[in-house]
Amino acid sequence: MKNKDQRLNNLDQQFWKDQRVLVTGGGGFLGSQVVELLKTVLPQEIRVPRSKDYDLRQQSDCAEVVKDITLVIHLAANVGGIGYNQTHPGKLFYDNLLMGVHMMEEARKAKVAKFVAIGTICAYPKFTPVPFKEENLWNGYPEETNAPYGLAKKMLLVQAQAYRQEYGFNAIFLLPVNLYGPGDNFDPESSHVIPALIRKFVEAKQNKAKQVTVWGTGNPTREFLYVTDAARGILLASEKYNSPEPVNLGSSFEISIKDLATKIKDQVGFEGKIVFDTTKPDGQPRRKLDVSRARDEFGFVSEVGFEEGLKETVKWFKRTI
Ligand SMILES: NC(=O)c1ccc[n+]([C@@H]2O[C@H](COP(=O)([O-])OP(=O)(O)OC[C@H]3O[C@@H](n4cnc5c(N)ncnc54)[C@H](OP(=O)(O)O)[C@@H]3O)[C@@H](O)[C@H]2O)c1
Repeated sequence: MKNKDQRLNNLDQQFWKDQRVLVTGGGGFLGSQVVELLKTVLPQEIRVPRSKDYDLRQQSDCAEVVKDITLVIHLAANVGGIGYNQTHPGKLFYDNLLMGVHMMEEARKAKVAKFVAIGTICAYPKFTPVPFKEENLWNGYPEETNAPYGLAKKMLLVQAQAYRQEYGFNAIFLLPVNLYGPGDNFDPESSHVIPALIRKFVEAKQNKAKQVTVWGTGNPTREFLYVTDAARGILLASEKYNSPEPVNLGSSFEISIKDLATKIKDQVGFEGKIVFDTTKPDGQPRRKLDVSRARDEFGFVSEVGFEEGLKETVKWFKRTI
């Protein structure tokens, strides 16, 4: 894996040296990698408001954190895997919509020069032609279990385009695919598929279980982006991309849940069986992004291969238990 100096390659320190950057959600899984990478380009200030001090669903708290900032990278969100999405559709809709709307409005009022809004692949219609192209974003309703989350985040795209049109506000909108890597959320109540499976296989191995149950049929496919790649993509876009059209951030590597479970089982060294619980939802049938816009517009190409990234993630999780 590349070290920090190698990762610096295509970031331009000139751009960063005068920036005072607010990273909302900067203590989270993706946020902490964004902050780590930001530290290497030496901006004037990196500000990370934590939720215990500032509730960004409150407009007044958003006004507070954005003072004297030149660039906002808005990552704060309420997020989770398919089970969490099924249990908390109301909270996911409310929290994510309010945080986004208030943050962008207060950033505009505070004359912030640029706002980077982070959306999600969950904003795409359920049956988007593969690979997902940004122009298909509005051609249908998202998969039901993640629609409240996906649509709440998608409103940031509408807001960004409307503010650019009316106020000349420079807001951009990025759509990262499912992320994975060290520091991910491994809580069984709210984790995404990779950490959920890693935990299941590691625990099954420890407990000498005969089988591991995986949700759904195993047939849906997913694409994954390593978290440090996502952080680099976000900083490249922050630096170089200034247009209203949304941009996918992904790896363009598609894998079925069945193959993913097998890879994790092998990586962990679990020798029992995998059983699919088809009474549980599959979620969106296929996910794979067209990543050409990010490459053409701001030179982002993912670097960390899936096997390598998975190995690092399993290693990290084993160290934490
Ligand atoms: N993980 C993925 O696979 C994925 C994929 C696509 C897009 N994204 C997007 O990437 C961003 C980061 O996701 P993540 O996986 O890194 O999530 P995460 O680890 O849960 O981080 C989210 C952060 O948001 C902050 N936050 C939540 N509610 C808040 C509130 N009311 N006020 C202030 N801060 C609040 C939390 O801050 P504290 O730590 O201070 O509590 C938390 O650290 C999100 O916008 C998400 O939609 C993630």
